[in-house]
Amino acid sequence: MLSMLDRMFSPRCIAVVGASRDERKVGSMLLGNLLSSGYEGDLVVINPGASEVMGVKSLPSLLDVEQDIDLVVVAVPSGSVKQVLLDAERKGVPAAVVISAGFREEGAEGRLMEEELMEVVRRSGMRAVGPNCFGIMDTSARMNATFTSLWPQEGNIALISQSGAVGSTVLDWMMKMGLGLSRFASLGNKMDVQEADLLLMLENDPKTRVVGAYIEGLEDGRRFIEAASSITRSKPVVVLKSGRSESGARAASSHTGSIAGSDQVYDAAFIKANVLRVDDLDSFFDAMSIFSRMPLIERDGIAVVSNAGGLGVMAADACSETGVSLASLSRSTMEALEEAIPGMASSLNPVDLRGDATADMFIKAMEILSEDPAVNGMVLLSAPVDTVDLEAVSKAAVDFSEKKIPMAVSFPGGEESDRALTIIREGGLPDFPTPERAVGAMAFMLRYREGLERVNENELPSSDADINEAREVIRLARESDRDSLSEEEGKRILKAYGVPVPVEGIADSCVEAVDVARALGYPLVMKVLSPDIHHKTDIGGVIVGLEDEDSVKEAFKLIMERARRSFPGAKIEGVSIQRMVKGEEVIVSLVRDETFGPVLSYGMGGIFVEILKEVSQRVLPLSREEVDDLIRSNKAYQLLSGARGRPPGDLGSLTDIMVKVARIGMDLEEIEELEINPVMVGPMIEGCWAVDALVTLRRKDQ
Ligand code: COA
Repeated sequence: MLSMLDRMFSPRCIAVVGASRDERKVGSMLLGNLLSSGYEGDLVVINPGASEVMGVKSLPSLLDVEQDIDLVVVAVPSGSVKQVLLDAERKGVPAAVVISAGFREEGAEGRLMEEELMEVVRRSGMRAVGPNCFGIMDTSARMNATFTSLWPQEGNIALISQSGAVGSTVLDWMMKMGLGLSRFASLGNKMDVQEADLLLMLENDPKTRVVGAYIEGLEDGRRFIEAASSITRSKPVVVLKSGRSESGARAASSHTGSIAGSDQVYDAAFIKANVLRVDDLDSFFDAMSIFSRMPLIERDGIAVVSNAGGLGVMAADACSETGVSLASLSRSTMEALEEAIPGMASSLNPVDLRGDATADMFIKAMEILSEDPAVNGMVLLSAPVDTVDLEAVSKAAVDFSEKKIPMAVSFPGGEESDRALTIIREGGLPDFPTPERAVGAMAFMLRYREGLERVNENELPSSDADINEAREVIRLARESDRDSLSEEEGKRILKAYGVPVPVEGIADSCVEAVDVARALGYPLVMKVLSPDIHHKTDIGGVIVGLEDEDSVKEAFKLIMERARRSFPGAKIEGVSIQRMVKGEEVIVSLVRDETFGPVLSYGMGGIFVEILKEVSQRVLPLSREEVDDLIRSNKAYQLLSGARGRPPGDLGSLTDIMVKVARIGMDLEEIEELEINPVMVGPMIEGCWAVDALVTLRRKDQ
């Protein structure tokens, strides 16, 4: 059975409300586009002042239409939209596209008006795209229900765009490149239909092979992750999300009135769902183009073939920058190349056929290379030199592409190259303006392929945590009306989850401190114990390296003095004394993001976090493999895995700790934030320790 959204994209009858007798108006343009795209279902116009518009019958109201309507497209001034939706509700219309602007994006009054529309939509159960949108398209239904006449040929790219302008830019580019569209939706203010709904629909749309989405901000991030994780198992989703910079984010917020979440968390969410995030329109185009036209690369290892050493070297540089490997060709491949193409400049990869290479030589080289099991993809480059017949090379490449090995073509240049590229495009091969972008497109395929493997391993680790003990700590804090826990309480939660913390004792007098120190043995660390002091180091509330009784006494006095001076009203419970552990410092933390929920962060500790700001994140829940991947994705990995003769750190224990912290994030919703700063990563097999714990609870009113 067709879903409601599928029906919206393949309606049997469309009513256009607001098509004017004036052909320059938006509603009329939209009607004109429906007519010129060749929509073959029934069409009716709703315009009380006309009996027909552009030859289409017009009626005063939706309620006057006798037959069932599958989709109503609304292009009347904002103040009239609610009444149109109420009529649609009475008429039992299942879907609406609201083009009209003048809602949430225009401030408080508009927001109220949009809420009223949402109420009608929710109550009636209809699905609605918009308001403030550009419309939708389905090329196989020959339905252009937008007010742009840009109408790409039928194909396998689905496009979702929060912005109408970006949508039309991409449609125009697709037409130029000869790429085909399956479905398009401009989402505007997203009062009802969101990206997640469309991803779920497109997952089952047999015509769609790749989805491109332009996003400014998401509201229900977890639903997006769920839908995206599902579709990306079978189809790549390429996302261009704007608002990376702070000022960009502000512009994006005001553009369609959405509040963009912190941009870095978007990266984490996209990694989680194997969504391919790209940074700019060029990359957006390149990724969609290669996914649309080529089979997915099986594994790393590409060959570069050119008639121009310079272009080949550029491609090789791009490979090293994007992490794509140049396949090491087998001896027999190189011999076969040399035999088939006498006088070639290099049979090493990048393969240089020489400036005077003929089309026949290109095809021979491609044939031989494709037989080498190390070659999983090919980049074909050619310069527009007089000795080469680029058009013949293009025809050869198109014939060769039957081989089903992914190819990326680049003939950089001007008019001469363009003529040849027409043959490439018509032959269904993807082309790129530069060697770097051709290699970049291969890199996108590999990133998606690697993500597929990562996601397949995704099994959640089991847990033997003592949740009741952890809940009891939270209950007691709540009872005493506190949102933040003391270090000792935080550590009790960590211990309940099996996170190792160094042995410690508590003392509230100098004498007691000496007793605790004797029992623990040296060296020791002493810290102020107070639920009111969070950044203990900043006030000198942590003293490390205590080696004997005298230094313990001295430290106790100093810490008490400093705490009282810096926080006169604070409740000071004494000091905690711990065995000093050694290792590299990293920070592990848990935060709740408004858009995506609990997020695990990880980075280098100490001064590094401030200076390098090297923090990596993943959205929960997390498998052990994902935690491993998180650790590897951060620069701290090099340091911890034994750079420059340092002893390698115990990364297995670090993964254990992070898996457990992630579990806390899933189990204990009352925890708003948890930070372990630092986790000491000891040398291999010596373990890691949570040396500190800062826990904040969700405020009661949240
Ligand atoms: N039911 C049926 N027809 C109605 C109607 C209603 N409730 N209210 C108005 N109409 C008719 C009008 O009579 C007019 O037809 P006519 O010229 O033959 O008399 C037609 O619908 C259009 O109405 P009009 O008042 O002329 O509006 P408009 O065309 O100037 O503007 C919008 C309407 C929707 C285009 C405009 O309000 C708007 O929102 N523009 C911005 C759209 C946009 O940018 N969207 C986001 C893109 S990313």
